[in-house]
Amino acid sequence: MTDTLTIPRPDDWHLHLRDGDMLKGVVAHTAEHFARAIIMPNLVPPVVTGADAAAYRDRILAALPASMTFEPLMTLYLTEATEADDVAQAHASGLVKAVKLYPAGATTNSQSGVSNFDNVQGVLERMAEIGLPLCVHGEVTDADIDIFDREAVFIDRVLDPLRKRVPGLRVVMEHVTTADAVAYVQTDTSGNLAATITTHHLIINRNHILAGGIRPHYYCLPVAKREKHRLALRAAACAGDERFFLGTDSAPHTDAAKLLPCGCAGIFTAPNTMSCLAHVFEEDGALARLEGFASRNGPAFYRLPVNSEEMRLTRQSEPVRYPELVETGAGNVTVFDPGFDLFWRVGP
Ligand code: NCD
Ligand code: ZN
Repeated sequence: MTDTLTIPRPDDWHLHLRDGDMLKGVVAHTAEHFARAIIMPNLVPPVVTGADAAAYRDRILAALPASMTFEPLMTLYLTEATEADDVAQAHASGLVKAVKLYPAGATTNSQSGVSNFDNVQGVLERMAEIGLPLCVHGEVTDADIDIFDREAVFIDRVLDPLRKRVPGLRVVMEHVTTADAVAYVQTDTSGNLAATITTHHLIINRNHILAGGIRPHYYCLPVAKREKHRLALRAAACAGDERFFLGTDSAPHTDAAKLLPCGCAGIFTAPNTMSCLAHVFEEDGALARLEGFASRNGPAFYRLPVNSEEMRLTRQSEPVRYPELVETGAGNVTVFDPGFDLFWRVGP
């Protein structure tokens, strides 16, 4: 049995770091394993302008322990007031690597998102011109669409028409959760479409959230779907298709905010993501493809170099220990429980 694996240091192509005490409490958990991460802009208020992104990057770097190296890849939150020139300038300076589209009301802190797509057409056209990717939270928000159908409906009603209106726009479908999204990416012939997959969506289905009691720590958006969708995600991640790569969507909320009658969506996977992924890829006989998924496919789509440092993973005979929760100045944050023992650890 293979018991060590050396890969280029991985990156996380979808990460929530928050701000203030929460940022200080979680950033090292990502920086310990990942060289870079695409930083989500859904703060309150959101990261909308290049100036906002520069200030947020500085706060992230200030929160990083001095011994660690980590490069935050900044994103801008697309609103109907976003200016194409500001976006282009933030991209040209090297600061911003993507723009994030949240349909208004789709998820945590998305009130400022887009309702009328005509109002962002100019920005999207400029992004297509300069090759700046649009990261899409792909769910419709209509109250009359079942929450388990919102991703599939989004593809037909919003994403596909949008891509036709803006040919050449480079799009990352974020945290895909359905066989429909996987098929949409696999059948694309434009070369302009990719998708991120989270760690948890490779592991849980909707039973984990709802069967035998309600489990708020497995609640995230897009919500985990039925088993056949999880299997489609596993197959896509493990197939070696370059268009699929890791975006953990590690989204810390305090336990106090998760364990409410109306709790927040988000799963915190930063501390044990690489252990979970090695387990998943090994189980599917695809350990050799973890490198593509976690370290190579993302940089290829974002047109960035693969990291030159390496990460070694080692399979040990005793279960790996990791904290059940992380204490932050903002409160305790529960770490994702995959529901089985993990044996792969990062390190020699
Ligand atoms: C994210 C968050 O908490 O910011 N929550 C989540 O469930 N994934 C928002 C998001 O990415 O949808
Ligand atoms: Zn997210």
